[in-house]
Amino acid sequence: MSKRYQYDVIIVGGGAAGMTLALQLPEQLSIALLAKSPHDQSSTYYAQGGVSAVLESNDSIELHVEDTLDAGAGLCDEKIVRQVAETGPAMIEWLSGLGMPFTRDADESAGGYHLTREGGHSRRRVAHAADATGKALQNTLLAHVAERSNIDRFEQEVAIDLITENGRCIGLYAYNRESHRVSVFKGRKIALATGGASKVYLYTSNPDGSTGDGIAMAWRAGCRVANMEFMQFHPTCLYHPEAKSFLISEALRGEGAKLKLPDGKRFMPRFDERAELAPRDIVARAIDHEMKRLGIDCVYLDISHKSRAFIKSHFPTIYERCLQYDIDITREPIPVVPAAHYTCGGVMIDAHGCTDIENLYAIGEVSYSGLHGANRMASNSLLECLAFGHAAARHIEQTIADTPMPGRIAAWDESQVTDSDEEVVVAHNWDELRRFMWDYVGIVRTNKRLERALHRCELLKSEINDYYGNFRVTADLLELRNLVAVAELIIRSAMARHESRGLHYTLDYPHLLPEARITVLDPAARPDPEQTVRLIGR
Ligand code: FAD
Ligand code: SIN
Repeated sequence: MSKRYQYDVIIVGGGAAGMTLALQLPEQLSIALLAKSPHDQSSTYYAQGGVSAVLESNDSIELHVEDTLDAGAGLCDEKIVRQVAETGPAMIEWLSGLGMPFTRDADESAGGYHLTREGGHSRRRVAHAADATGKALQNTLLAHVAERSNIDRFEQEVAIDLITENGRCIGLYAYNRESHRVSVFKGRKIALATGGASKVYLYTSNPDGSTGDGIAMAWRAGCRVANMEFMQFHPTCLYHPEAKSFLISEALRGEGAKLKLPDGKRFMPRFDERAELAPRDIVARAIDHEMKRLGIDCVYLDISHKSRAFIKSHFPTIYERCLQYDIDITREPIPVVPAAHYTCGGVMIDAHGCTDIENLYAIGEVSYSGLHGANRMASNSLLECLAFGHAAARHIEQTIADTPMPGRIAAWDESQVTDSDEEVVVAHNWDELRRFMWDYVGIVRTNKRLERALHRCELLKSEINDYYGNFRVTADLLELRNLVAVAELIIRSAMARHESRGLHYTLDYPHLLPEARITVLDPAARPDPEQTVRLIGR
């Protein structure tokens, strides 16, 4: 049976952004917290390095702002950068109060927190829980969410599409992975906290669920999307046939690890004076360049000059994981390659997390807030999740009294569809999409590669929409439909940028233009047949 639910606030996404919002809202509001996967399958849970915040006496908000603007290559919104940086210390205190097990330091100069350093940061500024900060964060927030009687958690619900009426968001349809039924969730306020879209690439550090669902849903509902060309590739993922994109934290480089070629020579000083601690776009591009120049499959990250005790206490997870593959990082270098890691663009929001659609919010990696510009600085994204979870909660608290519960919403209509007879189409298209995105829309781009990618994307999109229109939905089909939508947004944004800036590097326009402009795609400017699909629920 399909079900009907009604809540004051519906939050789609159970990572750092979604749970922060849920916990920061007043306890008298009823809240539904939807996730499409178990709690250990969010990017939040995977995070290693930490959360950036100004905590040390020799640091300042001004320096945090400066470093973020510098990494963002001229495209950050300074007002937002300052708002987020200023929220940082209070959010770390809030987490500490919830019991977050941050690594401590006997030295009290940073309030007792041990801080690491990562690329782009001019100071030690990253609060962390050893090398598994995300797991500690997710577990801490979840423990508190579970205690709150006003929050109902749904872990098997895949949001399909937002429902709008007269320019307002009034709810969404969601597919349940167990019952295979589509339910209606009706709410006064809806928040997307669905994370990023790195799964659009063949190789990624992200969990399988990073399929850009929130970006695609918001786009279909009529929200503008910005800066989608800036997909961040993390320079160092473990290169091993059995390791599924395991990240080797930038914190290793922060603690002195060096990048080396197979002959043991360092190469980063040739590319940037900050060497291994240059911002990520520079390091990933340098690795890509060296791999292509020498025809090698990977480069190496070496921290073996540090003591065994230091490595094992600072990086216990990475040490253990590498050992599973017979790599002892205390004695030998780690084979690494870049992989898609973070979506800098997303659904356009204001300083409160509000989107273009009334009563619809977007927070965390799904959003474009203006914080990251053309390249996100390390450990600024968990901070963004916390800061915007907080900001959106304050806005909802102030405005919900004037937001009535919407009226009846039509049930999902399945009268015109049957069960799929060719699941292979979905599996094949998933693979094809991710492969051409990796080959044609990766670290180094050209006009020709982008045109090829767009052509293939259009073919896939029409095939997938056809399939979607004829068959009952499945979780894989829903994710594929979103991936192809997001792939198109990335390609179109990349095509619109006639320069190389931050994470977007193209051989056809290798230079920086004098004026820095964000790329905004507006669904209202390009009628899309999928829009009509939304209005009738399919
Ligand atoms: P997520 O944590 O990804 O959560 C998304 C949630 O949305 C999930 O619960 C998912 O099930 C749900 N969802 C998605 N689609 C749907 C749908 N259709 N219906 C229902 N639910 C849905 N950043 C840092 O600042 N510091 C770090 O050290 C750091 N390390 C990282 C290491 C790795 C390996 C990775 C992958 C990322 C790292 N990042 C780091 C980035 C950071 O972790 C993410 O940007 C951040 O956690 C995103 O949080 P979020 O709440 O926006 O989304
Ligand atoms: C890392 O630990 O290298 C990831 C940090 C980040 O993505 O911010």
